[in-house]
Amino acid sequence: MDKLVIQGGRPLKGEVGISGAKNATLPLMAAALLTDEPLVLSNVPALADIRSMAGLVGHHGARVDTTGHGLALHAQNIADTTAPYDIVRKMRASILVLGPLLARAGHARVSLPGGCAIGNRPIDLHLKGLKALGAEIELAEGYVEARANGGLEGAVVPLPFASVGATENLMMAASLTRGTTVIENAAREPEISDLAACLAAMGAGISGAGTERIEIEGRDTLSGARHRVIADRIEAGSYAVAAAITGGDLILAGAEPETMRATIAALEEAGAETSELPAGLHVRGDSATRGVDITTQPYPGFPTDMQAQLMALMALSDSASVITETIFENRFMHVSELARMGADITVTGASATIRGVRALTGAAVMATDLRASMSLVLAGLAAEGETVIHRVYHLDRGYERLEEKLRGVGADIARAKE
Ligand code: EPZ
Repeated sequence: MDKLVIQGGRPLKGEVGISGAKNATLPLMAAALLTDEPLVLSNVPALADIRSMAGLVGHHGARVDTTGHGLALHAQNIADTTAPYDIVRKMRASILVLGPLLARAGHARVSLPGGCAIGNRPIDLHLKGLKALGAEIELAEGYVEARANGGLEGAVVPLPFASVGATENLMMAASLTRGTTVIENAAREPEISDLAACLAAMGAGISGAGTERIEIEGRDTLSGARHRVIADRIEAGSYAVAAAITGGDLILAGAEPETMRATIAALEEAGAETSELPAGLHVRGDSATRGVDITTQPYPGFPTDMQAQLMALMALSDSASVITETIFENRFMHVSELARMGADITVTGASATIRGVRALTGAAVMATDLRASMSLVLAGLAAEGETVIHRVYHLDRGYERLEEKLRGVGADIARAKE
């Protein structure tokens, strides 16, 4: 396993290229299973999770060709409708093949994804929605098995919670289902809109993506398409915090500010200065950091995927702040590691109270999940002395060429073998 070694205290200055969105690419790759024609994606990030998903759709029969940041997926036939445990356990987003396999092949058997560090991550809303479309669902031996014996039928599907994954699974299944499907209380994330744009290019009739009500006219068959993945708003937000926490000045090339409003608002309230560019975002962190109270919400609220990163910044603010996590039940794993670097944070239930300190000190810390790991990198960039972050495989799941991008703007960071 690798570790990252950071010498902190250097303001970051220059331009960082923002990659395509991991959380848009993963459902788009699953959507390739809906058609027997090629789906060609561009602006695809080079990440471990993308390679895992390529392995999974390949297992189901898709031919996958990677060229740089391009990905050509061609599922001429579905060879196998079972998503096996040894693949799914590595990446819970594998559940996104359930809807496409069911709609394309009438059957899907997917290993239950199980929980992860941030929560037990149930899939009850995915299953409830597919049942509404006529699927027969049974759980056995750690797998969920779905059958569409008489074929699926469009239906109105109210979601009790605006689940991103459930919305995506349902949109994909409904696109290859006779009739009209309406998803009520749908998730509104930009990644949902990106998937809808691709499904529409493949022939589905989709309206309302980005709102809480999405209407899908399903088709008997879908065609291939060419689609460019949106920029990663969480990667961009993470580098925006890097500018703020190091007192730096960064151009985030390729960032899409219109998908980052809540993150930008929080950073401005904390004292950073931002300005939108024709193709990106400029962030300057040369003033003192003020404490900001944040509650995570489904989009367009403050994203849970930015919570740990903001907490690192708040640890160095000139006052106190309260961060409340409403989306996942265990997403404060970074708190104890930040505390080892000198942060003053108290967790009470779903809220963390952060009292800013003058400085953090470098330490050996442990990454636990993707965004918590980034929080530790950000703290290390600002801390006095050396920070060593173990288990960086978490980071490789969601941040392309992290140390290269950071070194390119002046960070003293290196990867080493454990
Ligand atoms: C997606 O996960 C993202 N992953 C997550 O990003 C992100 O944190 C999350 O959306 C919220 O924005 C991908 O897109 C691959 P949810 P997902 O279904 O789809 C509960 C990262 O760091 N729930 O909106 O799993 C669930 O337990 C990752 O890139 C049910 O109870 O999120 C959670 O508490 C982490 N039943 C909440 O809803 C269900 O059937 C949000 O889950 C589904 C979800």
